Amino acid sequence: MRLVLLGAPGSGKGTQAARLKDHLQVPHISTGDLLRAEVAAGSPLGLQAKEVMARGELVSDAILLGMLEDRFSRADTRGGFILDGYPRNLAQADALDALLGRIGQPMDYAVQLEVPVELLVERIAGRAKAEGRADDSPESVRTRLRVYDEQTAPVVDFYRRHGQLTVVDGVGSLDEVFNRIVEAIAPEKAVG
Ligand code: AP5
Repeated sequence: MRLVLLGAPGSGKGTQAARLKDHLQVPHISTGDLLRAEVAAGSPLGLQAKEVMARGELVSDAILLGMLEDRFSRADTRGGFILDGYPRNLAQADALDALLGRIGQPMDYAVQLEVPVELLVERIAGRAKAEGRADDSPESVRTRLRVYDEQTAPVVDFYRRHGQLTVVDGVGSLDEVFNRIVEAIAPEKAVG
């Protein structure tokens, strides 16, 4: 199963990917998590990315592609993967398509989690209190939502044109959303 989760900040991509990974037995590749690990490690890449991420803007396509190529060179991705946080603009969508073509692993599904903006803001505000992620401040959240609308939303049409898009309602309990995704991508693996 090769799957990409799409959706605005706070739509539940990371939360659902963590559950899908166990269910589908494939690795979860989150470019946000990979970048946060670089920042935490204080690596040169992390130092470049830190301020950009804190502002809620996109880190450069070149950095992301290098990171992704490196991740896909690892053996655990050969049986499939769940990608979360990439692609975030059309250039990244093209680069991913080319990369997956080169390694003979074309995408099976792009799942778009749909959540109204008021709920996105509410969820992120809840996490800001609980976890204090650097880019969850109100100003950065506004930037992340704008960047999503301007640069990432067109990626949804990219996958629609490629016949790979499934839209899932992201409002509801964690279990409800999870079951909707599983039914959309692999009904034979649905629970309950
Ligand atoms: P990234 O880590 O990808 O952040 P994001 O897209 O802004 O996503 P979030 O983590 O906020 O939301 P999510 O959809 O994963 O929701 P979550 O499950 O966490 O990227 C961070 C930054 O890294 C970017 O801004 C950029 O700078 C950089 N970056 C990353 N990838 C890049 C790329 N490809 N190119 C360039 N730059 C890149 O849920 C959110 C909250 O809601 C949680 O508290 C959760 O518990 C809660 N929640 C989830 N589902 C539910 C539910 N059903 N009901 C109630 N609460 C829920």
